[in-house]
Amino acid sequence: MAAALNVGRREQGRTWPNPAVGALVVRDTANGPVVIGRGWTARGGRPHAEPQALAQAGEGARGATLYVTLEPCSHHGGTPPCVDAVRAAGIARVVAAVQDPDFRVAGRGFAILREAGIGVDVGIGAAQALVDHAGHMLRVTEGRPHVMLKLAVSADGKVGLAGRHPTAITGETARGRVHMLRATHDAVLTGIGTVLADNPLLTCRLPGMEDRSPLRIVLDADLRLPPTSALARSLDVAPLWIVAAEDAPAEPETVLGAMGIEVMRVRRRPEGGLDLDDTLKLLALRGLTRVMVEAGPRVAASFVAAGLVDEVNLFEAPTVLGVGALDALEGLPLSALGDYLSVVEEQWQGVDRLRIMRRR
Ligand SMILES: NC(=O)c1ccc[n+]([C@@H]2O[C@H](COP(=O)([O-])OP(=O)(O)OC[C@H]3O[C@@H](n4cnc5c(N)ncnc54)[C@H](OP(=O)(O)O)[C@@H]3O)[C@@H](O)[C@H]2O)c1
Repeated sequence: MAAALNVGRREQGRTWPNPAVGALVVRDTANGPVVIGRGWTARGGRPHAEPQALAQAGEGARGATLYVTLEPCSHHGGTPPCVDAVRAAGIARVVAAVQDPDFRVAGRGFAILREAGIGVDVGIGAAQALVDHAGHMLRVTEGRPHVMLKLAVSADGKVGLAGRHPTAITGETARGRVHMLRATHDAVLTGIGTVLADNPLLTCRLPGMEDRSPLRIVLDADLRLPPTSALARSLDVAPLWIVAAEDAPAEPETVLGAMGIEVMRVRRRPEGGLDLDDTLKLLALRGLTRVMVEAGPRVAASFVAAGLVDEVNLFEAPTVLGVGALDALEGLPLSALGDYLSVVEEQWQGVDRLRIMRRR
């Protein structure tokens, strides 16, 4: 199952609206178990992992075991149900990590397999599968994507110089890790404040992984995004969506729309800024499962305060920016992350410490 989970993560960030599933077909031989088929959800969500693993195994699948990281689907979506492919291949036993909460499946996949006389075991590797499939799970159960907040802070908890002037905080290794995180998320979301201060690209620029740049999203209530910004000028690398307020002016939308930038509108919050519940609901309806928030202190604090952060990747540099520099979360202490998230992993990325926190 650990190997199935590993192959399942291969296209993570590129399978939305579908989950990134992994599957292995394993045969017992005189020399022990042998993997004879491997599959993972393809870019765009199809084909699914199981038919690919079964096709690779061919006739060898008869009497073999299928390890799969999520319950095989039982409904006719864009592809025929995976349970049909499993039955037709003659698989004797299915070992699945977790049940799919999607109402079209929700245990029916397992029931169909059992009715066909196939042995079904569920729960092996479940803890990791729940992490890997968290985006899919949240989208189908709560109608919102999984939200991962990335923060790069100085030793004194600051994210920028006074006056919102950009500065590099973490080192080369940590920056590489951030690009890897971008590659494995469906979208990177930022605020217009960061766009105006830093003019970022928000692409994945790791050598050999340039085609893994995620969709970029900007929260920009009044449509202030400059058509000359790096984001607007890199649509050939990755698409750009802007979330604006319902009452934002129409003219900039016409200009940005003509460039190929999609503008969507949500309510403003009474206290200012866009309604984040509405924003996330909209993004889930559009198929997004994994959103990485890489924004300044205003947007970051809004997500934390609204209880909408599921995971934090907190990079802490050894440098000190000093009094007057920008706090990581506007109006909130950095310790507010601990209100509903706990550290699950700590590691070093070069000279910078990375703490991964998840919702309790
Ligand atoms: N170290 C890091 O990890 C990191 C990462 C990114 C940025 N930064 C730094 O952050 C600074 C920019 O900070 P910032 O706070 O101005 O940028 P921001 O948080 O990215 O953007 C803030 C803007 O987003 C818009 N917005 C829309 N809905 C919102 C909501 N619900 N809550 C909050 N804001 C919402 C608001 O403008 P409208 O009302 O016009 O929509 C707001 O002014 C720069 O110095 C940059 O270098 C650091």
